[in-house]
Amino acid sequence: MSRENFFGTLAGAVLAATVALPQSATAQDVRFAADRGEVTYAADIAPILEENCVRCHHPGTAAPMALQTYADVRRYANRIKTSVENRMMPPGWYIDSTVGIQDFKNNPQLSDEQIETITRWVDAGAPQGDMSQLAPGKEWKGEHEYWQLEDEFGWGPPDFIITAPSFTVPAESGDQWWEPETALADVVDRPITSDRWVRALETRPGDAASAYVFHHVNTGLRRDDQADNDLDGGGLTDAAVGKRIDMYPNDSGKLVRPDDRISFSLHLFSIGKEVEAKVQIGVWLYPEGERPKYATEDETSFNSGESASLRLPRYTDMLIPPNGYQELRGTFVLDQNVRVHSIRGHMHLRGGYQMMEAIYPDGRREVINKINWSHLWHTTHIYEDWAQPLLPKGTVIIATSLMDNTAQNPSNPDPEQWVVYNRRSVGEMAHIRFGITYIPDEEFQQMLEERERVLAEQAQRGQPIASR
Ligand code: HEC
Repeated sequence: MSRENFFGTLAGAVLAATVALPQSATAQDVRFAADRGEVTYAADIAPILEENCVRCHHPGTAAPMALQTYADVRRYANRIKTSVENRMMPPGWYIDSTVGIQDFKNNPQLSDEQIETITRWVDAGAPQGDMSQLAPGKEWKGEHEYWQLEDEFGWGPPDFIITAPSFTVPAESGDQWWEPETALADVVDRPITSDRWVRALETRPGDAASAYVFHHVNTGLRRDDQADNDLDGGGLTDAAVGKRIDMYPNDSGKLVRPDDRISFSLHLFSIGKEVEAKVQIGVWLYPEGERPKYATEDETSFNSGESASLRLPRYTDMLIPPNGYQELRGTFVLDQNVRVHSIRGHMHLRGGYQMMEAIYPDGRREVINKINWSHLWHTTHIYEDWAQPLLPKGTVIIATSLMDNTAQNPSNPDPEQWVVYNRRSVGEMAHIRFGITYIPDEEFQQMLEERERVLAEQAQRGQPIASR
């Protein structure tokens, strides 16, 4: 089966009227391309790198080199060109651009024009230009010193910070799991005194040394009184390599209570020296006394290959042959109306791709998104408000995962092995998380009508919704 054809045939039906278009040029890009003969570091390249790369490429981060001065950038010019041309940098964006929804709040990718500007500059011998034009670079903080929501999204500091009980990771050992549970009030810097609603969360290493030992950090709230379904505890936030933030739609939140307990699930690995692993979670709240319209379920897992209806343990069917593939598929019928605000895949080293499709109650079938997997970054892709999939009660969700155990998979440590389910990265997992909120019938109907109106308006302006 040719993958291109398979996706090509499904791509016709479009839920949010989003089609894959190249990202539109900014005014600045057009100026670069049209008016200027020569592309220079000072005028063109430094601003692109400052905005898109230096946050990670400065001393004290996990990135291998700083890209802050002309000398640095010139030295790595060829590698920069390759890494932007093949869209490996900026990293962490694996939404397939040829199918499904393309409108996200946190897409870090360069525009085609920016990539072309960099390529032209490198091909022209990386000229420096007039350095007096160059604005002074920003001061950058280490991974453990900044909050992306504060420093990049402009949200102000978190309302309180959770610090997980620390764990000593030995210099040499297998994977470690650390799963303590404690009173929330014992691990926050500013305990809350009344019921509050969470708008967003961000996980960061507690100090510089801890930045390299975490595979994932999952937290959940534990609450005894679950009489009101809306208000039970459940997951708080999950973070993994490359994933820091969770952000809810601005009418949705998650309840947190002063006497909640909090459970942590930390998956850690050794890096050749002993590390006292510390992690912090910043929490942004709705104002005191304000209750958002909806209590969100947030990230909800859809497993491929889970024989749930047969009550079998998860991934019973997973058995990936050496030098081969396995495709796993799970189907789920929604028993309530759902609005989806984010998507995040999860596989390990044999991950190939994952895909979420919807079959609507009227029979239409549509690819919502396809994620081309990389084990290095675990981004939550957050939909623009007007692109959030609206899935009515009765919709069938198909979660497909293709496991790739061939030598062509660059992450594959050993294509000669049979691979089965395991929590460790050498075994596999295959689930996809949708950030979801359940919406009552009448309000869901209004959302559908509003969506129709926005799409019609955009179409009338000749402005397909995917272009920004
Ligand atoms: C979110 C953090 C982050 C951002 C943003 C980022 N990088 Fe990187 N970059 C990394 C990390 C970590 C590595 C090393 C691991 C890897 O290659 O994935 C890396 C590796 C590289 C490499 C080395 C690849 C090689 O040849 O081995 C280059 C070149 C590079 N980045 C250029 C860029 C450019 C240019 C941008 C902006 C357009 C950028 N990066 C944005 C984190 C980042």
